[in-house]
Amino acid sequence: MSSRVQNRSLQARIVSAEEAAALVPAGATLGTSGFTAAGAPKAVPQALARRAQEACARGERFGVRLLTGASTGPEVDGALGLEGAVDFRFPYQGDPAMRARINAGLIEYQDMHLSHVGPLIRYGYYGKVDFAVVEVAKVREDGSLVLGPAVGASNVYLEVAERVILEVNEGVDERYEGMHDVFGVTGRHGERREIPIYAADTRCGSPYVKLDPARVAAVVLTNAADRSGAFKAPEEVHRRIAGHILDFLEGEVRHGRLPPSLTPIQSGVGNIPNAVLAGLNEGPFEQMTAYTELIQDGMIDMLDSGKLRFASASAVALSPERQARYRRDLDRYRDRIVLRPQEISNSPEVIRRLGCIAMNGFVEADIYGHVNSTHIVGKGIENGIGGSGDFARNSACSIFMSPSTAKGGRISAIVPFASHVDSTEHDVTAVVTEYGLADLRCRSPKQKAREIIERCAHPDYRPLLRDYCRRAWDADEGRHSPHLLDEAFAFHNRYRALGDMRPGLEVRP
Ligand code: COA
Repeated sequence: MSSRVQNRSLQARIVSAEEAAALVPAGATLGTSGFTAAGAPKAVPQALARRAQEACARGERFGVRLLTGASTGPEVDGALGLEGAVDFRFPYQGDPAMRARINAGLIEYQDMHLSHVGPLIRYGYYGKVDFAVVEVAKVREDGSLVLGPAVGASNVYLEVAERVILEVNEGVDERYEGMHDVFGVTGRHGERREIPIYAADTRCGSPYVKLDPARVAAVVLTNAADRSGAFKAPEEVHRRIAGHILDFLEGEVRHGRLPPSLTPIQSGVGNIPNAVLAGLNEGPFEQMTAYTELIQDGMIDMLDSGKLRFASASAVALSPERQARYRRDLDRYRDRIVLRPQEISNSPEVIRRLGCIAMNGFVEADIYGHVNSTHIVGKGIENGIGGSGDFARNSACSIFMSPSTAKGGRISAIVPFASHVDSTEHDVTAVVTEYGLADLRCRSPKQKAREIIERCAHPDYRPLLRDYCRRAWDADEGRHSPHLLDEAFAFHNRYRALGDMRPGLEVRP
């Protein structure tokens, strides 16, 4: 009997993953734990994937509707995606198998601001949640739960689901107990009170998630590590991006618009945000705090160096190498990290109150400052908007960053018209590439265009972008954000036809 299941009635409900998965009927709606691979269930989704495989061998189909906190691990999105076992996916994903099926039109995927997930689920817009499938570190005697490295939307699914399947992962460090601050947004619109968080380190909730054991259908014991990927080592391009951001922030401090330790920072997912954190770790700012959704390697390094005093997030997702060090030293981090539900870590109310500094990656930005974070031309959706929209719109300062080109220069990250818009020009303080940072504050659309082209675009693309602007502004004289609608997507069309956004260039091997 596992010492991790302390509630007596739940001890009697321990079953195998196959037995738990057998409870789930085809077409069921599942709400799972996990915010990235961190804290995602491991055994039951794989057993469901095997059911889908067996159904397929019989010429039948087994599919579920999959709701999560954010992306998950290979055991959820990877396994279910590979077996074609998902009919509907919400609100974020980042797995190659799932992405391929979504972009093949085989899965209906809705990409959503992560702060919206809890309220939308509670209001019932996504229908009845049949099962919450949630990984926990421990079940306490009273049935309340100790979560692991992620909170995500687990509190919401545990609250609303008809029945609950718990995966008690004995591999999750028990020292997570006490690191969570579970404060759920309660009440319907019009009845809600403030979220009482006034600094990154404020605690206002409970370290545990309450659960009535009577709602638990099955308990599965596991012992498996989160399978998070490694980050690319920072390259010169990333170091230059970080340098421009540091210069910008130093200027803000010099002008008295930011305090010397900055306001709480938010850092997005991916290689570039992680590399920028490495830059901040070598920069001049001390005693920083983070109010963010995900703690990646770079933030652990900042906690280690002391540059970062405290980090509030919804999850900790580290590369295998950092994970080992983090686990060894968890006692040192326990008082300096708090893990919250994503409706709190990404709450517009709190982000605006704290005046966060948001730093997120982008796929493409257009000359007027509209940002596409999600869609790659000719490929479809990459991941999703995640928390970038929550933070971009509500932070005091919102920076979007990317190398100026992708795919060996064949794609410009600065285009005349973004082929998809996640954050509008009204949400973007600055765009930055390795060439420079365009500060878009106090600028009209045409002024923004000059800044973005001259500071951020790759030199190969600047003449093309200048030429587009000149002709659009002449043709559409006096208009606010002039465009040549017949030509606005010429960069994208050229890439699709010739494999290069630059005219006159053949596809290179
Ligand atoms: N056209 C084509 N491909 C592009 C591209 C563009 N304009 N911009 C990026 N890519 C490709 C890269 O080439 C790379 O492909 P590869 O894996 O085949 O090498 C991939 O997208 C990732 O880009 P990379 O340069 O390594 O940056 P990243 O890991 O920092 O990711 C985003 C960039 C935009 C995909 C990522 O930041 C993201 O998903 N953002 C949306 C969610 C978000 O911001 N969440 C933050 C809230 S916490």
